[in-house]
Amino acid sequence: MEKKKQVLSCIQPTGNLHFGNYFGAVKNWVDLQEKYDCVYGVVDYHAMTMPYDPKKLRVNTWELIFNLLAVGVEKENLFIQSLIPEHSELCWIFNCFTSYGMLTRMTQFKDKSLQNKESGADNFISAGLYDYPVLQAADILIYKADYVPVGKDQEQHLELSRNIAQRFNHQVGKEYFVLPETLFTEVPKVMSPAAPNKKMSKSLGEKHYINVFGEEARVRKQIKSAVTDTGEVKEGEMSAGIENLFTLLKACDNMDAHSSLMDDYNAGALKYVDLKEAVADSLVEKTNFFRDRKAELQKNKKEIKNQIKYSSMQIRKQAQATLKEVKDLTGLMNVRF
Ligand code: TRP
Repeated sequence: MEKKKQVLSCIQPTGNLHFGNYFGAVKNWVDLQEKYDCVYGVVDYHAMTMPYDPKKLRVNTWELIFNLLAVGVEKENLFIQSLIPEHSELCWIFNCFTSYGMLTRMTQFKDKSLQNKESGADNFISAGLYDYPVLQAADILIYKADYVPVGKDQEQHLELSRNIAQRFNHQVGKEYFVLPETLFTEVPKVMSPAAPNKKMSKSLGEKHYINVFGEEARVRKQIKSAVTDTGEVKEGEMSAGIENLFTLLKACDNMDAHSSLMDDYNAGALKYVDLKEAVADSLVEKTNFFRDRKAELQKNKKEIKNQIKYSSMQIRKQAQATLKEVKDLTGLMNVRF
């Protein structure tokens, strides 16, 4: 039997899961598990690159683990980055194969350091933030990932990962690392219900994101008060708010409602209340299901935490094998008696 292709992706342990994260990334992770060998990491080392609260990091990491499990990521495929210190060791080695100039051109670093400066509270910009994409390359290459499902904003980091792999391969005189490809699947861009010209995001504030574990009444209220008329719509074009509601309906796979409401729209007879009700029903079906699953998982917190530690140790074996080979190839030491 042919070996399945390796898929890897990671997510930072910051805050709750909302439908932007879910439809934009995590749902895709869940679906890919059928076809590929998948490993997915909660990257707590990455979460230290911006000012953060050490007391909250572990709590957020576990919270995200439970959230991912509740929406369908399999526990065998999940790891916590700091349980696999080989990532950070490979990061150091990669630092020495990374072009300083290329790292300087990373737009996420520029954006985040600006964000840090502007937030005013703490204008500290760490070397860790600068080095972030090299650690990301280590996350990817240590598992020899063929495909990395990420959003468009990560394309530049993937390019850097390939560049590091190529330089490494060239220097050691061997096609050792696989060059990872970005897996852009058709993912809907979910916008804020309160400001449909902006991407759904936690940092915009409470009104702007819908929690995938949200209480029914709140989800319904958020959809009911979703902005539909943005005022700047060209003749014959759909407003951003209406488009976003149709996007959500489609993302929820409610194609019957989608097509009949779209017919209404095309006939100039769409009632916004009908569209909103269909969207709210579809979302609530998901949130109720996810909330129940999460509650179920939380009954066995300790056991599940242990299972995740165990799966991290299983996944770690792959990372250790790669690091050992890398140390041999680069002239570093391995213990061998
Ligand atoms: N940089 C990614 C983000 O901001 C998170 C990440 C860290 C990642 N390591 C990764 C994504 C490895 C894919 C592969 O979303």
